[in-house]
Amino acid sequence: MTQNIHADRILIVDFGSQYTQLIARRVREIGIYCEILPYDADDNEFVEFAPKGVIFSGGPESTTVEDGPKAPQCLFDMAVPVLGICYGMQTMAQQLGGEVEISDHREFGYAQVRARGHSKLLKDIQDHINSEGHGVLDVWMSHGDRVAKLPGGFKCIASTPSAPMAGMADEERGYYALQFHPEVTHTLQGQRVLERFCREICGCDALWTAGNIVDDAVLALRDQVGDDEVMLGLSGGVDSSVLAALLHKAIGDKLTCVFVDHGLLRLGEGDQVMKTFADNMGVKVIRVNAKDRFFNELAGEADPEKKRKIIGKLFIDEFSTQARELAADGIKWLAQGTIYPDVVESAGTRSGKAHVIKSHHNVGGLPDDLEFELVEPLRELFKDEVRKIGVTLGLPKEMVMRHPFPGPGLAVRILGEVKWEYAELLRKADAIFIEELLAHDLYDKTSQAFVVFLPVKSVGVMGDGRKYDWVVSLRAVETIDFMTARWAHLPYDFLELCSRRIINEIDGISRVVYDISGKPPATIEWE
Ligand code: XMP
Repeated sequence: MTQNIHADRILIVDFGSQYTQLIARRVREIGIYCEILPYDADDNEFVEFAPKGVIFSGGPESTTVEDGPKAPQCLFDMAVPVLGICYGMQTMAQQLGGEVEISDHREFGYAQVRARGHSKLLKDIQDHINSEGHGVLDVWMSHGDRVAKLPGGFKCIASTPSAPMAGMADEERGYYALQFHPEVTHTLQGQRVLERFCREICGCDALWTAGNIVDDAVLALRDQVGDDEVMLGLSGGVDSSVLAALLHKAIGDKLTCVFVDHGLLRLGEGDQVMKTFADNMGVKVIRVNAKDRFFNELAGEADPEKKRKIIGKLFIDEFSTQARELAADGIKWLAQGTIYPDVVESAGTRSGKAHVIKSHHNVGGLPDDLEFELVEPLRELFKDEVRKIGVTLGLPKEMVMRHPFPGPGLAVRILGEVKWEYAELLRKADAIFIEELLAHDLYDKTSQAFVVFLPVKSVGVMGDGRKYDWVVSLRAVETIDFMTARWAHLPYDFLELCSRRIINEIDGISRVVYDISGKPPATIEWE
């Protein structure tokens, strides 16, 4: 394969919208590579990226205040098409000589937009035709300000009663802007609008496909590590599994995976990971049985953050021990499952405003005397792309489509002190809940579902006997980005079935509750 799948690329300039990553995912779905840069990145970064087109995101600020964020001039000087969305439209209007005003009629939610002016961007894209024969689009709006005067050279391409200039274009320069959000699915024709911009207006070819991404990554990996050995910490989660399959395809037995079984995995998970990788795919996997060490070190500790720290440290110790043993063979490279949202979010924290709510552990933090170089072949990919290439690489769908599972495993789902007895009860209850979600076609409708063990005893009756046993909570959420989440409104009958099975089949559990807390204010995990 000789084509450069990164050549036809779009730049997304982030003004702080909650939808910026969604814009990038939509562009990738069209089959075009794109990256996000904050609006205040260095001019060099924009210029070196050399995109075929630029999209300005929305944002929470107002152009009507002094010092609102502005698009750097170098982006207009690149002479490539630009699409401004929401705030992106307003700043474009203002910077190019138009005017923006605070609207007396704020619009949030559904709106109908009338397309006007026969622009290349919206031509023949519509949901309805109104009585006068004009094309109408059902869109998602979220704005307070609006463009009051078009900049020179622009025409109006869309309007609503409360935003007469809901879209504008200077087709000669390839500048387009929309007040509504084409990236959200509520805008029914949004994907077609983005596709029109990226493919036809910017002239990008759809080269960013799962097959091409795999081929490209394999070549890049071989180029990066040559004949060297690479080590990978396999957790059984989606990212590390796809990473293992990708590296195996690229470098075969030069890859060694270390799978630390800390005894805090779900029912049968350790064996399943070994079966998928070592048995079926012929990947070299060292399984380290570290259950006793983890449970001994966790004994007596009830504080969630301290539990996480203990686990993180033990994980690294085990990993380092394996690395030292293998290092005699000259292992230089460490593979990490960093994905694109991690890269964007660490760049996005330049302002230092993000708070650490929970310290998520990764294989990072290895001691300095283990001098590895990093291999991160997933760092350009969104989670859905990681899943797609997992399927292309031949991983079982059940593994690739799995809900995320935290690194500290069941330790953060057993409240307070972790005991083997609790972990065993939790594993059984969790397996029943997941089995029923799958059987009722509800697994894929929830983003994450699991059971939490509460160290609380409660009275029950079974047959003629009195029970005094433990309580568990079912937790199921719907979310796109795991930053916010809604508790899943699972059917009552279904919840009843899960509760009945758990109490009847597991000796030691007397009561099941359902968690109806959203995030925020709660978090998805209980600890
Ligand atoms: P929270 O509980 O913060 O969870 O709302 C958001 C997502 O992150 C996962 N999570 C973790 N993942 N180590 C991990 O690798 C951790 O310590 C950890 N804590 C939470 C959680 O499962 C959810 O998907």
